[in-house]
Amino acid sequence: MKRIAIFGSGRGSNAKNIIEYFKFHKNISIKLMVTNKSGAGIITVGKENKIPTLIIEDHKQDLNDKILKTLTENLIDFVVLAGFLLKIPSTLINKFPNCIINIHPALLPKYGGKGMYGINVHKAVLKNNETVSGITIHFVNEDYDKGEIIFQAKCSVLPNDSPKLLSKKIQKLEHQFYPIIIEKLITNEH
Ligand code: GRF
Repeated sequence: MKRIAIFGSGRGSNAKNIIEYFKFHKNISIKLMVTNKSGAGIITVGKENKIPTLIIEDHKQDLNDKILKTLTENLIDFVVLAGFLLKIPSTLINKFPNCIINIHPALLPKYGGKGMYGINVHKAVLKNNETVSGITIHFVNEDYDKGEIIFQAKCSVLPNDSPKLLSKKIQKLEHQFYPIIIEKLITNEH
């Protein structure tokens, strides 16, 4: 059984979707949630599914030590970031080589980097009159949104789309593809 931890700072819709997808899976199980926001929706998702949740403070030391300790204690094999807004420390990246992935709500390498999260991404895409946007699933390295790309899916951007409407289209893609890609990665390579 491969044991997954999901990290998130937001609503937790991806976390919820991933948990549901793997609920009865033979080889993959969600064993831990990690968040840095005490009021995050992702905590409720963890509670509802009886998955232990680590809530961390924003201090670097805390992030390093507590996360590493908890991942080790819970025998975690693979880390899935779903809207986690803190930078992942290099100690963690080194401990989980090619075993930490993230989903980004745009087609990287465009619209990535610091400050490019949530609605900011969609506003930037619309401002540049892009006709296509989408999702990127990628490995996590020391640079924000710069790790090797694993998968992308596209959707059209229409002239009248608002940032909110675009975010809905993108979340639909995220929910459709993130669990499948996680499953493929873990089943084929781990
Ligand atoms: C997603 O749109 C994801 O692309 C981004 O953060 C958002 C998280 O949404 N990295 P949710 O908390 O899963 O609803």
